[in-house]
Amino acid sequence: MQIAQFLPQPVRHFFSATPFDAEKQSAALPIRHMKFDFKAEEIDPKFYLNAELASAYFASLSIFLTYGEDLVIDTARYHRELLNDPVLKQRVTSLIGQEALHSRLHEELNDAFRDADLPVELFRSWARFVFDHGFNRLPQPMKLSLMAGIEHFTAVLAEYMMNHEEIFFQSHDEKQRAIWMWHMLEESEHKDIAYDVFQSLSNSYGLRIAGFFPALITILVLISIASLLVPFYRKPSNLFSLSYWKDLPRSIKLIFGLQDGVYGSSWAHILDYLRPGFHPNDHDTSAFLAYYKERLLHPESGVLTPYFVKEFTPALKV
Ligand SMILES: [Fe+2]
Ligand SMILES: [Fe+2]
Repeated sequence: MQIAQFLPQPVRHFFSATPFDAEKQSAALPIRHMKFDFKAEEIDPKFYLNAELASAYFASLSIFLTYGEDLVIDTARYHRELLNDPVLKQRVTSLIGQEALHSRLHEELNDAFRDADLPVELFRSWARFVFDHGFNRLPQPMKLSLMAGIEHFTAVLAEYMMNHEEIFFQSHDEKQRAIWMWHMLEESEHKDIAYDVFQSLSNSYGLRIAGFFPALITILVLISIASLLVPFYRKPSNLFSLSYWKDLPRSIKLIFGLQDGVYGSSWAHILDYLRPGFHPNDHDTSAFLAYYKERLLHPESGVLTPYFVKEFTPALKV
């Protein structure tokens, strides 16, 4: 699968990605079970810094991302069988378990969004169409690349969120805060697993980049466009609300602003994926992770402690 093997030596050198090194890989991760019991009446539609459209983006992301997570789960399951390294297999089982719980609990949040008048069923029908007729029909190597691409974007998002913890505490909606903080912690924790599977089975730069662009377009462009509908669907009077339109530029800046926007300020990290020798752990988040595990999971004071049920780490099978 090495596309570069027929190219001249200097070009080949440029495209030679770092192969998977089993000795240097991270340890397997725990799968944490949570229980949130979301209720429509507790949903804050301006959860994200009191900005309606920026909050709509995250609600839309919650809806569409479950389809991406289901693709990650199916793809990881398929490729786990092709792996030889037992630790990498164990890590893939952790990835599958963490994503399965993200998907299930975000669906519970999405049901609450639906009951709070967000266009959840409409977005689900769009997502089903795109995945059933597009992404889920791709050949397995391309799905593997797409999985690594999606995980890159969730890692970028997680690093931004962990670096901007204050975002979560601007709203009284403790359950939205908890699910996003838990999800972002785990996205950062497992950010290297899909990539290591890809490098272990393919290590083709061209194929890896082919999965980056559909992930980019879906997460940054299509979900953003869909989210434009949310404020009007939820509250049609927003169409004529001066305060809604006046606040719109702030929402756009919060997501795409180059200064401090979620994606706008993360371009260097996003595009670093295009570097042939890229590895997710080149972006060291170990200090964030240590801090967040304490902040979220401390048995008495953790933000997630009221919602935490149990955790277990998959067994190593040799
Ligand atoms: Fe996830
Ligand atoms: Fe993930």
